[in-house]
Amino acid sequence: MSTVNGVNKHKDRSALIPFSSRLKDGRALAQDVWSIFNALNLPPDCLNLGQGYMNFAPPKWVTESAEEALHTIAANHYSHPRGRLRLRQAIKDHYGPQFNRDLDIEKEILVTSGANEGMYSAWLAFLELGDEVILFEPFFDQYLASITFNGGKPVYVPLHPPSHDKQFSTSNEWTIDFDELRAAITPRTKMIIVNTPHNPVGKVFTREELEGIAALAEEFNLLIMSDEVYDCMVYDNKEHVRIATLPGMWDRTITVGSAGKSFSATGWRVGWLIGPQSLITPSLAASTRIVFCSNSPLQEAVAGGLEKAKNYNFFETQLKEYQDRRDVLIDTFKKLGIKYTHPEGSYFILIDISDIDIPDGYPFPESVLGRGLDFKACWFIAMEIGVSSIPVSEFYCEEHTHIGEVFARFAFCKDIDTLKAASERLQGLKKLFKKRE
Ligand SMILES: Cc1ncc(COP(=O)(O)O)c(C=O)c1O
Repeated sequence: MSTVNGVNKHKDRSALIPFSSRLKDGRALAQDVWSIFNALNLPPDCLNLGQGYMNFAPPKWVTESAEEALHTIAANHYSHPRGRLRLRQAIKDHYGPQFNRDLDIEKEILVTSGANEGMYSAWLAFLELGDEVILFEPFFDQYLASITFNGGKPVYVPLHPPSHDKQFSTSNEWTIDFDELRAAITPRTKMIIVNTPHNPVGKVFTREELEGIAALAEEFNLLIMSDEVYDCMVYDNKEHVRIATLPGMWDRTITVGSAGKSFSATGWRVGWLIGPQSLITPSLAASTRIVFCSNSPLQEAVAGGLEKAKNYNFFETQLKEYQDRRDVLIDTFKKLGIKYTHPEGSYFILIDISDIDIPDGYPFPESVLGRGLDFKACWFIAMEIGVSSIPVSEFYCEEHTHIGEVFARFAFCKDIDTLKAASERLQGLKKLFKKRE
């Protein structure tokens, strides 16, 4: 045996240390949709309507607040694990009225490193091994691994898509079957995750739907995680109802927010949890041990953003801009005769790709083969017309892939010029779809 300093030169050393079996759950090791449909794998001039981040900058007056913060000493150092006082005060002032509450900045607000870390902390704080967490499908894919890493067991309840016969339906025609939801609850159920406005459907849950969920939460003593990161993007004068404001629900709801979505700054990693002390204090204990505190100067910047938003009529203007962006794509799919879901919230639009006409033997990469029809359709569309989108089956469990695999998600958090350019290219979809009789 040839050894150098006791090390066998011929032994494979690429995987000497076994990794934790936890990574095998929650699809953490599977190639995720974002890396398959990464810009680097697609044609270089492909217009990216796949990933849900903006191709425009945060408002200048918000980045100016960031710059100011970088020039102070305090904001370059650790913050309080609850979040910087100025940001917690700004969150209280901005959101308190929306919850009809005088929020306590010492007990009821926790600033986190993006919504993701906030939710992770809450799962760590509240899940015992084997506790079940109900997810409505399609679900934001990050939930899955975060739940399983913390010992939770995801339980899937699909939203039911509208009939495929119509050319368009609204996002609210994706419905909850309340008998199915009730049947999914077991003695191990701990929590239901609500995501409104919804990624990827664009659904804004109605008051009646939320009351139905609330009644079950009350009956079975469940915690509600209400992911409302798209709360600034609710269109067509629809009402964004916060489940925490329904009778009795404050005490059992953690509401999740994200500065990334509100101020077009997804890389800043600033988010927050709002809820009663009994839910925020354990989440704080977890968050403190995960990150200790969130990015200090950008917390100051977000505080500046919330403080000044009214002066700039910011959220009203931003909403109008998003609605215009949405309408470019809606108009495109409508005129093309492609079936789509009209989103009432968030910044995604789903099209039905079940009629896609992919030639036999079309060259697909390994990563796409063996996945749902939607993976092939999104790849085919990106290659043929240069617009990327995301396959929706990724947001389903394996058993329910068939529900999601007929949809592709296009993100419209892009500037109008990009969306108009995409619209021109999307004209090419006509020849990629089978002609209907
Ligand atoms: C539904 C949903 N929740 C949470 C997040 C994550 O938010 P953050 O970037 O603040 O972690 C996203 C991001 O895409 C999302 O779509």
